[in-house]
Amino acid sequence: MDSPFKPDVLKGKVALITGGGSGIGFEISSQFGKHGASIAIMGRRKQVLDAAVSDLRSLGIPAVGFEGDVRKPEDARRVVESTFNHFGKVDILVNAAAGNFLAAAEDLSTNGFRTVLDIDAVGTFNMCREALKYLKKGGPGRDSSSGGGSILNISATLHYTASWYQIHVSAAKAAVDAATRNLALEWGTDYEIRVNGIAPGPIGGTPGMSKLGPDEIENKAGDYIPLYKLGEKWDIAMAALYLSCDSGKYVNGLTMVVDNGQWLSRPRN
Ligand code: HXC
Repeated sequence: MDSPFKPDVLKGKVALITGGGSGIGFEISSQFGKHGASIAIMGRRKQVLDAAVSDLRSLGIPAVGFEGDVRKPEDARRVVESTFNHFGKVDILVNAAAGNFLAAAEDLSTNGFRTVLDIDAVGTFNMCREALKYLKKGGPGRDSSSGGGSILNISATLHYTASWYQIHVSAAKAAVDAATRNLALEWGTDYEIRVNGIAPGPIGGTPGMSKLGPDEIENKAGDYIPLYKLGEKWDIAMAALYLSCDSGKYVNGLTMVVDNGQWLSRPRN
């Protein structure tokens, strides 16, 4: 589907996207690139990164990939610095890296719980902290007339209620949403950095869907969730564009739900 945004809304911007080599992260990378941004993607798997960078470059998008694990503060620091060294600034950080699996709480080990908290919550914090120096108003590479940059944290809706076999992810995404609000307050006030989030509903063709939404759930969901409809990665990327370009300049601390209203729904009986 064509974008409703003008193709230059992110012209001259540099975006660093964790988990940017696949799924929702890759769609955000390519849509940001198609709208004028230069793209750095971070991920753990070199093959995935290489393929994504070559796809982006084939679209004419300036792109580079950096291997790293968001759980490691030293990787977070190195990748943010490398992005700055490569492109001369950092305007937008998107935290899309996430870990997930289905496990009943009674079967989940401490390390299983901690691993997802580490990737989603600690990883998001690590990246934000390391990017702060570059994103803040007056930071290296920033035009003195422009304000600070922005951060976008990819979250979920599963912790708004309760979700089967997702205690670890629910806890992790609740922490991510708390970080979004707290950083919006502290860094919005002190550094003119906007910090927002997106909570996607079920999105087709993503690792999350293939792990969490077996076919039978996907096929039967419409029978018992009134507003059920699978979203597209495009839907999330358009919300990301809205929040990251000037259209979102007065939006700070919001986690925007993009799910066709599904988290509001309940089975009828
Ligand atoms: C129970 C499990 C498990 C499973 C792992 N563990 N998989 N426990 N059931 N299916 C436990 C392990 O036993 C171990 O604990 C601990 O978790 C760490 O596992 P590792 O394999 O060593 O971790 P690691 O290699 O770092 O892998 C992390 C991962 C993996 C999360 C387990 O799946 C991953 O990296 N995924 C990244 C990609 C991904 O999941 N993307 C989808 C995001 S979708 P012990 O005690 O044995 O040491 C998404 C959507 C969210 O985020 C919202 C949806 C609504």
